[in-house]
Amino acid sequence: MKKQILDVCCGGRMWWHNKEDARAVYMDNRELECTLCDGRVFRVSPDVIGDFRNIPFPDESFAMVLFDPPHLTHHGEKSWLFKKYGKLSKNWREDLAQGFKECFRVLKTGGTLIFKWSEIDIKLPDILRLTVVQPVILHKKQKTHFVIFLKPDN
Ligand SMILES: C[S@@+](CC[C@H](N)C(=O)[O-])C[C@H]1O[C@@H](n2cnc3c(N)ncnc32)[C@H](O)[C@@H]1O
Repeated sequence: MKKQILDVCCGGRMWWHNKEDARAVYMDNRELECTLCDGRVFRVSPDVIGDFRNIPFPDESFAMVLFDPPHLTHHGEKSWLFKKYGKLSKNWREDLAQGFKECFRVLKTGGTLIFKWSEIDIKLPDILRLTVVQPVILHKKQKTHFVIFLKPDN
């Protein structure tokens, strides 16, 4: 089946309706299998190991790109939060700005970028400043924002 969707930070695929969607390529920068504090096994098992700052696909490859990067800066690297969500580096502004650039590069013109952000350590406006593309939809549920972009012609 043709791959139309790229999830650049798939993690444990928790937000997927079908975690084995044949239309998708699941990417993350790590692989992991561990047991969480509640006894559940947690797996990060991407199809492609890659970095959202340098996505290993040609320009205009996908109709939809999903970008749910780490959103936390303060937790320890042994915590369950780290296992589940990873962690932003001190250079998060540069990293996420480059991530947005790369997501739009591999997205087809007219394609959709879905960006998820939990407003715990960093406010959403500080993140939206990192891309020049204006969102179409801003939807908030408690602290979690779903932001939908359309890739413009230029
Ligand atoms: C918030 S979690 C994603 C959760 C995922 N959407 C889900 O439904 O389970 C963020 C993920 O980004 C990954 N990540 C961190 N830095 C990355 C990078 N530079 N490139 C690709 N993935 C990265 C982490 O390993 C982590 O799995």
